[in-house]
Amino acid sequence: HMPRKTVQELVLSGEEIPGNYIQKDRNGVDLDVPLAEIPVVNLTSLSTSKEELEKLQSALSSWGYFQVINHGISFLDEVREVTKQFFKLPEEEKRKYSREADGVDGYGNDKIISEQQILDWTDQLYITISPEDQRRLKFWPENPKSFRDILHDYTIKLEMITEVIFKAMAKSLNLEDNCFLDQYGKEATMIAGFNFYPKCPRPDLVLGLKPHTDAAAITILLQDKEVEGLQLQKDNQWFKVPIIPEALLIGVGDTAEIMSNGIFKSPVHKVVTNSERERISLAVFCHPGSNEEIGPVDTLVDESRPRLYKKVKNYADIYFQNFGHLGKRAIDAVKI
Ligand code: SIN
Ligand code: FE2
Repeated sequence: HMPRKTVQELVLSGEEIPGNYIQKDRNGVDLDVPLAEIPVVNLTSLSTSKEELEKLQSALSSWGYFQVINHGISFLDEVREVTKQFFKLPEEEKRKYSREADGVDGYGNDKIISEQQILDWTDQLYITISPEDQRRLKFWPENPKSFRDILHDYTIKLEMITEVIFKAMAKSLNLEDNCFLDQYGKEATMIAGFNFYPKCPRPDLVLGLKPHTDAAAITILLQDKEVEGLQLQKDNQWFKVPIIPEALLIGVGDTAEIMSNGIFKSPVHKVVTNSERERISLAVFCHPGSNEEIGPVDTLVDESRPRLYKKVKNYADIYFQNFGHLGKRAIDAVKI
């Protein structure tokens, strides 16, 4: 049988936008929203500077996002470039990496789970990048030629950065350095999600990604260098996320909100479409190992701050079972 058209194929076909991409009650009011003043944190001084740690703590508990500079990765443009080149390949070649019916890894577009679902205007490639023994090379593109090497090098850098960030997150709350890392675990998994958002003739009606939170502990996002699109919600208001070309954007996911007993905020975010320009992004989701038990760190639970979340294993599974239920967040399923 014929696989469903990717968004890029839809665009090339010149057909009208199918009804299941249209947000029924959307009128484009959010296309011009204020810029989020997301704090910028210097990674090299993060663990020693009280000022940087305070900035980090305030970012994590308000926006749920911070931008990190001085991370030591000199090849972000190369990462962006191989991402673009992959999505420019002929559809036939990309389909060699198609996601399998029950799998996470691979190329495809928004999985259809329910009839009422409104689809996202994006084609995606998901690849498990860490730990190395969980990699499935058949989903790693061989084209462009440098794709695999660059993704491998990027993984090594992100593994190091992740450790620094988890320690700083703990320190920012005056906790012992390893208290989040201990839960995140040695079996932690990193999944790279490459997104391609083709130009869309109706940004007033169609979203690149519908509003959601991330299940992961943290998400490390490399944004397009020029094209904005990401928006986040704070105090019931939408904000645009600015681009800092040399920065990585780090987002709190539901798992870190749980571990911090609700002090860190897993923000609702979405991506808007653009009629003039296409956009790419690369989100790396850092999940605790599936055998790791996750729950609020004991020292963050006391009389003034009761335990908000149950202990859970495999939060990512709970998240996907509860995903897309109208008006509810998946994290509500583990609230006490
Ligand atoms: C995401 O929410 O994972 C993607 C964000 C983006 O494309 O900027
Ligand atoms: Fe996300």
